Amino acid sequence: GAPVEVDLTPIAEGQIVKVFWRGKLIFIRHRTAEEIKSAEDVNVASLRDPQADSARVKEGKPQWLIVYGNCTHLGCVPLGNSGEYNGWFCPCHGSVFDTSGRVRGGPAPINLPIPPYSFASDTKIIIG
Ligand code: FES
Repeated sequence: GAPVEVDLTPIAEGQIVKVFWRGKLIFIRHRTAEEIKSAEDVNVASLRDPQADSARVKEGKPQWLIVYGNCTHLGCVPLGNSGEYNGWFCPCHGSVFDTSGRVRGGPAPINLPIPPYSFASDTKIIIG
């Protein structure tokens, strides 16, 4: 599939937008300062799938989290700004993800993966 260009300008802070790339759902989340802080203030070693938040965003762009939008358990679409960590909550079997898209509870085995993307400018990403 061809790369997908996304203009970030209309995505308000706190908002999550859905796009498709290669038939896969992707969430683009414009994180608030509070959401970034809660993602960073985690003991990484305590996580099921230990990954620092800084390894899941681009350097200097912590406000933008881009993750695949299907639960890593059985593929349902988790609800944004939901669950114990206000990240995502999967209504199918109760997996909980934080504001970095990392699994924090329920049956999901791994974090929501990060698709390949890059910043073409401060306000535009290219997925793929
Ligand atoms: Fe999400 Fe099972 S598909 S918890």
